[in-house]
Amino acid sequence: MKEELVRLLKNSVHLVYMEEVDSTNDEAKRLAASGAAHKTVVVAEVQNNGKGRRGRSWDSPKDDSICMSLILRPELETVHASMLTLVIALSAAEAVEEMTGETCHIKWPNDLVLHNKKICGILTEMSADIERIHYVIIGVGMNVNQEVFPEDIASMAASLKSETGKEINRAALIASVLRHFEKNYHIFMEQTSLEPLLEAYNKRLINIGRQVKLICGDREEIRTSHGIDAKGALIVSDEKGRTEEVISGEVSVRGLYGYV
Ligand code: BTN
Repeated sequence: MKEELVRLLKNSVHLVYMEEVDSTNDEAKRLAASGAAHKTVVVAEVQNNGKGRRGRSWDSPKDDSICMSLILRPELETVHASMLTLVIALSAAEAVEEMTGETCHIKWPNDLVLHNKKICGILTEMSADIERIHYVIIGVGMNVNQEVFPEDIASMAASLKSETGKEINRAALIASVLRHFEKNYHIFMEQTSLEPLLEAYNKRLINIGRQVKLICGDREEIRTSHGIDAKGALIVSDEKGRTEEVISGEVSVRGLYGYV
């Protein structure tokens, strides 16, 4: 994949290509800590210690999946960094649509969902102090051409190929994600707001109008979700119609991933 990727990306990013790594996010952190430039992208064929959100592991089989991490050094206040996760989620969804011709949904804040199954996860990490961001690492793991999944995730995970029947060119998919991200990142950074991207994000949001279960520590609460706002918060309402913003946390969508 390397030569094709170099050709497709031209000089749009600084590409670090690896056959194998523990985790592209960890490698990106090591590179960032030693001064790697803004828009460095680490792509690996396989990870032997891939990380998911909330301390979970992430399986990314060689040849069939994408694992990539982007190093950014944005001029942003620390509180705004999490919005970048939504920018990449939208960009990756647009890339999936470009490659498959099918609508790709987003489960807030950052899972990509095709035919009600998860095809992509995003892990954003950051090094910052109170005043400024040193760097942000955005890791994208996408199931591309897998046809079988481990038993424990088989009912909720899928790949682009398992859902569409099409074998997808991984280098072209990575290039497409980065191209869409370049465009959306620029739009976002102009006003440090998701406002201009809201329509594109919300129209793909699988949570819209559906019941969601908010998991806040030990508590679980049922709400109806209405979409995100310009800060990337999920707007939800309770049975009395009172609305609130959910800024972070785990959200299950009724009818998705076994939540019935
Ligand atoms: C999730 O739990 O949904 C997030 C999964 C993120 C996986 C990607 S694969 C590339 C990057 N490197 C990692 O170790 N994790 C992220």
